[in-house]
Amino acid sequence: MERLQKVISQSGITSRRKAENLISSGRVKVNGEVVTSQGIKVSSNDKVEVDGVQIDREISVYYLLYKPTGVISSVKDEKGRKVVTDYFPHVSERIYPVGRLDYDTSGAILLTNDGTLANLLMHPKFEIDKTYVAKIDGIPSQNQLNKLAKGIRLEDGVTAKADVEMLSKDKAKKRAIIQITIHEGRNRQVRRMFEALGFNVLKLKRERYGFLDLKGLASGDSRELKPHEVKTLYQLVNKKR
Ligand code: URA
Repeated sequence: MERLQKVISQSGITSRRKAENLISSGRVKVNGEVVTSQGIKVSSNDKVEVDGVQIDREISVYYLLYKPTGVISSVKDEKGRKVVTDYFPHVSERIYPVGRLDYDTSGAILLTNDGTLANLLMHPKFEIDKTYVAKIDGIPSQNQLNKLAKGIRLEDGVTAKADVEMLSKDKAKKRAIIQITIHEGRNRQVRRMFEALGFNVLKLKRERYGFLDLKGLASGDSRELKPHEVKTLYQLVNKKR
């Protein structure tokens, strides 16, 4: 149970103090009845209206999922394939993924119902660092890796600077494992960057989204973000505003 003025202010429509004014001026109804006294408590089942409009009672929730491959970064799929929200049957809030990972890509993806933060994180201006590990079908030269790092021309323009490091190479199998951190989020960007150099990406995993990594999570696992992590995400985007 929460105090009515808190519930109104949490919905984002006004401050706590102004919510008290709304209540005393008779503009608030609880379950269809006008309430003018301060301090009454309401539960999540109570319907709260301000000026006849029901307020959104959903509190913001934030999860980090280790998305397995073979899962769509969406809330539903027309072809009935598995989607990221299938991993959250216990969550009643209407969460959705922040950005996307390809069907074939595994790794860290954020889900939330906080549209403000999601929009900021997805906006090109605020794109946060994303670190991927790619297994590719060949061994790139240092010169080729430098090209990726400096920016490479794709059909939708030259990519921004990236951090690129070869983690290992298998000369016999002619394969390499490359870590790449990009600051943009174009469609299939990492795959297209390697393809531009003539390499196919055999496996792709996002190890980090900003400062969030997959520590302690197995494929298909998720965890709720800690309040300080949510705060840091907001700070990251606000710093660039
Ligand atoms: N780049 C890709 O190519 N695929 C992803 O899923 C994410 C980044």
